[in-house]
Amino acid sequence: MPRKIIIDTDPGQDDAVAILLALASPEDLEVLGITAVAGNVPLALTAKNARKVCEVAGRPDVKVYAGCDRPLAHTLVTAEHVHGKTGLDGPDLPEPEMPLQQGHAVDFLIDTLRAEPAGTVTLCPLGPLTNIATALQKAPDIVGRVREIVLMGGAYFQVGNITPAAEFNIYVDPEAAEIVFKSGIPIVVMPLDVTHKALVTAPRNEAFRHLGTEPGRIVAEWTDFFERFDKEKYGSAGAPLHDPTVIAYLLKPDLFRGRHINVEIETGSALTRGMTVADWWRVTDRAPNALFMGDIDADGFFALLTERIARL
Ligand code: RIB
Ligand code: CA
Repeated sequence: MPRKIIIDTDPGQDDAVAILLALASPEDLEVLGITAVAGNVPLALTAKNARKVCEVAGRPDVKVYAGCDRPLAHTLVTAEHVHGKTGLDGPDLPEPEMPLQQGHAVDFLIDTLRAEPAGTVTLCPLGPLTNIATALQKAPDIVGRVREIVLMGGAYFQVGNITPAAEFNIYVDPEAAEIVFKSGIPIVVMPLDVTHKALVTAPRNEAFRHLGTEPGRIVAEWTDFFERFDKEKYGSAGAPLHDPTVIAYLLKPDLFRGRHINVEIETGSALTRGMTVADWWRVTDRAPNALFMGDIDADGFFALLTERIARL
């Protein structure tokens, strides 16, 4: 029985690879819908990009909804410097033909969680947590109906990537993150501590290109584009492939190692806004609220990713 998921996303080349990984695994995952949120680029673009990716996967039937166009309390911060002006720069992709669903993504989240049996739907946020937090605020009854939230965001040892203290997804909407992390819903966190160990090195990217398929070529060209920023910044052998770690966890959790700890979100300080204060060393008596990942079998991750992308 495939696991039911909703992917909440701000594509973003790495979001796009995560969506392809999920759609390439129908025997494991049933994607009930994709909800777009403002993040890497504004909402109009993330909602368009999500549909472009579904069409790359040959899945124009997937329901894609547009959600919140700005964070709860701050003005939107975007990341065109990483993802390009379209948010999906690299290969030229046609304008999507599949429709955007009518209705707001937040209402889709609420309605789906109410309609599906309690404890059967997993939420997979890959961008700022605005849609998720808004749904929890609008319909508190869904808190007990979510099976698990598996998200990409935050950092402890890696600290920050958009500021010295904060990771982008949490930084863009720290108030939303606080609502999610205090919700009591079981949370699995894929922080920069893990994603910075999942670098798309040249051999790993060539493996995508050598698949000899359109999706393989497109993934390789997305990487060719977005890796330039991180390789320059970190002097690394490749860019971290952040968001697919969320989907990989659902497919092969043993690829990851982490700790069940307390994680709280800084929302008051301008200097450290969006910092995930992770009690990794358990120095406080604050109750654990998240399985915070610290390590990944990177070779296993890329082997899974390549094998699944090959299926598209
Ligand atoms: O900090 C990395 C995260 O921010 C990833 O989800 C990337 O897509 C961007 O949204
Ligand atoms: Ca993202």
